Amino acid sequence: MSLVCLGLDLWRGLRASPEWAGRSIGFVPTMGALHAGHASLLKRARAENDRVVLSLFVNPTQFDDPADLARYPRTFEADLELARPFTDAVIAPNEEQLYPGGYHCRVTENDLSRRREGAHRPGHFDGVLTIVLKLLNLVQPTRAYFGEKDWQQLQLVRRMADAFFLPCEIVGCPTVREADGLALSSRNRRLTPEGRQRAAEFPRAMRHAKTPADAIVTLKALGFDLDYVEDEAGRRIGAVRLEGVRLIDNVAI
Ligand code: PAF
Repeated sequence: MSLVCLGLDLWRGLRASPEWAGRSIGFVPTMGALHAGHASLLKRARAENDRVVLSLFVNPTQFDDPADLARYPRTFEADLELARPFTDAVIAPNEEQLYPGGYHCRVTENDLSRRREGAHRPGHFDGVLTIVLKLLNLVQPTRAYFGEKDWQQLQLVRRMADAFFLPCEIVGCPTVREADGLALSSRNRRLTPEGRQRAAEFPRAMRHAKTPADAIVTLKALGFDLDYVEDEAGRRIGAVRLEGVRLIDNVAI
């Protein structure tokens, strides 16, 4: 890793330098608390581009619950260690730099973003799309990498990139799972050991149920609180809560 750019001026200078201008750039936007799922995005970016940029920014505008934002794990030093082998530059701007003058200009998608996650987390996707557009404009990557675990987010980022003719390829990457099938997520670390074991029933039930309604019955019987399970375009997409921790996942059907 050549550089950790906390400020954006340093980043802009680097982006315009002869070592970077004219090179292909792979970008992995994250909120930190990196795990092997993020490492897989960075590895893919490394394989497909001359340069790799990682962003670390816990984006306040995508949290509908201030307590959730306050609880979000912040593990800056460990994140740098995990990213080091695959990354050329890290940008970690602060809120003032990314929202100069506040949150008055935002991106709103008014169709898919209103369903599923959007219905349960009002304003969430406005926050996600707004920060992704800001970061894409700052980094100007050739390709940007997103995990398929956040399926709806990936579809919405693709829609935004198409709608605004963004000169960047949006690359979706397969979900990385623990040995028992649980999708890796920064939120998993908030589960108790017993909750962590039970959480693996979530993708199992989604995969094995014949219909979303069957999956819901099974998951409720297993003690999960259900937000939704729905099928769409060959995918079963769901969100549940366990021990107050919200888990989302999707599987091919
Ligand atoms: O998937 C995430 O971690 C976030 O939603 C993203 C894309 C980094 C925007 O803050």
